[in-house]
Amino acid sequence: MAKSDKSPSKSAAKSAKVARVAVAPGAAPIDIGISAEHRAAIAQGLNALLADTFTLYLTTHNFHWNVTGPMFNTLHTMFMAQYTELWNAVDPIAERVRALGFPAMGSFADYSKASSLPDAPGTPPKAKEMIRILVDGHEAVARTARGLYPLVDEASDEPTADLLTQRLDVHEKAAWMLRSMLEE
Ligand SMILES: [Fe+2]
Repeated sequence: MAKSDKSPSKSAAKSAKVARVAVAPGAAPIDIGISAEHRAAIAQGLNALLADTFTLYLTTHNFHWNVTGPMFNTLHTMFMAQYTELWNAVDPIAERVRALGFPAMGSFADYSKASSLPDAPGTPPKAKEMIRILVDGHEAVARTARGLYPLVDEASDEPTADLLTQRLDVHEKAAWMLRSMLEE
């Protein structure tokens, strides 16, 4: 049954942090069966996921450039695969925000406010610390994505649910692979 006429529940709205984004003035009305309140709350949550994903992308690319030590070749290559995947992921997240009728976040100032991940360290850390930071990063993005499910389910927003599932699979798998490298 469609639940789109209901306002987002408190718990669901709580999971979608970040300041509200304004709808573009003069934008054509949208009626896709999801209420304006739900669309706004989901777009807000997706912009937080976008900020997290972009921050993790940049940190991973930074580590690809700056990694040193005996694991150089393995990590340099592994980080390249990971930052490429993250770079490709930001586009579908941003475009889902647009399909819901809201502006996609796209500035360093907004990302630094909205991201649940810290910025990359100013001085490149040792290789093992890089791996630890990336495990934490992938876990943080997974938490952000997972936190959106109650809201998305309430609004019967299947395309967003599908996107979140794909992102969770990637982040949980990357966290596992990186975490495994920390074992003796
Ligand atoms: Fe490179």
